[in-house]
Amino acid sequence: MKDYTAKVIANEKLCDGAYALMLETEGMPEVKGGQFAMLSVPPADRILRRPLGIVTADDRTCSFIYQIKGKGTEALTRLTFGDTVEVMLPLGNGFPKIECERLAVVGGGFGVAPLYLAAKDNADKEVRIYNGFATKSQIMLEGLFSEAGKLTVCTDDGSYGFHGFPTQALESELDEFRPQAIFCCGPEPLMRAVKRIGESRGITTYLSLEQRMGCGVGACLTCTCKVAGHNKRVCKDGPVFLSTEVYE
Ligand SMILES: Cc1cc2nc3c(=O)[nH]c(=O)nc-3n(C[C@H](O)[C@H](O)[C@H](O)COP(=O)(O)OP(=O)(O)OC[C@H]3O[C@@H](n4cnc5c(N)ncnc54)[C@H](O)[C@@H]3O)c2cc1C
Ligand code: FES
Repeated sequence: MKDYTAKVIANEKLCDGAYALMLETEGMPEVKGGQFAMLSVPPADRILRRPLGIVTADDRTCSFIYQIKGKGTEALTRLTFGDTVEVMLPLGNGFPKIECERLAVVGGGFGVAPLYLAAKDNADKEVRIYNGFATKSQIMLEGLFSEAGKLTVCTDDGSYGFHGFPTQALESELDEFRPQAIFCCGPEPLMRAVKRIGESRGITTYLSLEQRMGCGVGACLTCTCKVAGHNKRVCKDGPVFLSTEVYE
């Protein structure tokens, strides 16, 4: 993990309330799927950085997608080409590279962000990806994900792709696909549903938790939650945990 001063090379509107940000810096470290970054937010006197999942990364660039939630993410939308931001990365443990033949990846909304690299890290397996969005206009990163596995895009209202939740798409293929592991990131109801599916079928399931964060590096304890009965820091000990250890 290191702190970089990075240059903004793109900050584009993806759809209503959503942006894609690409940064460039020298000597970008290797990033594992599921790891995240802490980004400074303009103006520089705003002390707390904001956590964002890393969508793509190579030795020169990294990219993010973000939803406007409050003042911090609102301020990010004003970044333009050539601006600089402080970015600390890679943070957290990320999804593991697991020993298995078939992997299911389930994402919901902005939770899809860390799953592309997680799927790519496991490219030696048969990977099926089930990404869910409320409606067609909110679909993100379809082209990117289709490079990382067999992609099913789901919409709650049926305006595109599979009509229903990504859990329903996953369940409709479980008997035929027989995944040995599931990775999931998204809203809590989605992750709880995936936990139920995985555990009822004996499938090793990993969930990426989201908690309010202050430092992102394990120092402030803002992000503490109960994991297997013990207090853990989501930023440092997670954000990825085995489903059997969380949401008890
Ligand atoms: C590991 C991780 C990865 C994330 N990845 C993404 C992503 O890829 N795309 C995306 O759109 N959002 C992501 N989020 C959520 C994102 O960090 C928050 O929406 C954002 O910090 C809100 O900041 P704000 O100033 O706009 O809102 P405000 O509500 O004004 O935030 C005030 C403070 O609360 C913290 N905060 C608020 N909501 C959250 C939250 N849900 N999680 C963590 N801290 C929060 C902020 O850091 C800030 O310190 C991620 C969160 C975590 C923990
Ligand atoms: S955010 Fe400070 S310990 Fe996790």
